[in-house]
Amino acid sequence: MKQVLVLGAHGQIAQIVTKNLLAEDVQQKLFLRSSARLTVANPQKEKLIEGNALSLFDLQQAMEGVDIVYANLAGNVVESAKNVIAAMKAKGVKRLIWISTLGIYDEVPGEYGKWNHEQLDGGYLETYAEAAQLIEDSDLDYTIIRPAWLDNQDEVSYELTRKGEAFKGTEVSRKSIADLVTKIIGEPSLYVRESLGVNKPNTDGNKPAWYR
Ligand SMILES: NC(=O)c1ccc[n+]([C@@H]2O[C@H](COP(=O)([O-])OP(=O)(O)OC[C@H]3O[C@@H](n4cnc5c(N)ncnc54)[C@H](OP(=O)(O)O)[C@@H]3O)[C@@H](O)[C@H]2O)c1
Repeated sequence: MKQVLVLGAHGQIAQIVTKNLLAEDVQQKLFLRSSARLTVANPQKEKLIEGNALSLFDLQQAMEGVDIVYANLAGNVVESAKNVIAAMKAKGVKRLIWISTLGIYDEVPGEYGKWNHEQLDGGYLETYAEAAQLIEDSDLDYTIIRPAWLDNQDEVSYELTRKGEAFKGTEVSRKSIADLVTKIIGEPSLYVRESLGVNKPNTDGNKPAWYR
């Protein structure tokens, strides 16, 4: 059975992915800090691992036997990316799905792009960009996912833009991002060494709807 390591398994998108994967032929290692916060629904298919992405040791231990790493991390994403890349290299794991954010290539056009910079500059956007660069400079089979501003709508509705294209739309549901991650885990040859913008169609504007 395919083995997936979910880094930041208590994260909001990660928890939706984890639920989705229970229906698939996949074994999950759920890596998180303070693991008592999560309950395993199916012990045959899920294993909790207490760990910190800032610890190379924790990551290397968790990587044993893993086919795909899905990183749903926040916080110090630069150090996390360095550790994830090093641990994958050490353990011979090649496939990485990395959740990033919109704007890391200055690819968000117009007023929305300006507003996005105002919200995210000053420590967030820069570090997410640096982490993505580290991953792109590695020889890993990565997919970087750049979601629009996230909401918790109970819907799956999204379209993709590639690196080099202008970002479309303003918002997207976490459930949509989880759907994309689940699809890639199901078919890991999809979007290898690609960086994908993800938005809900027809949501162009100067801000996400809830800010207008
Ligand atoms: N909000 C938006 O509109 C938006 C838009 C685009 C992209 N994003 C980004 O998309 C990503 C995923 O979104 P989300 O809503 O699922 O985020 P989330 O709920 O904040 O999940 C991120 C997870 O990262 C974990 N984490 C942080 N540092 C860690 C470490 N050192 N070791 C282990 N785990 C660590 C956190 O763990 P703890 O639970 O232990 O703190 C948390 O569970 C985030 O990076 C977010 O910034 C957000």
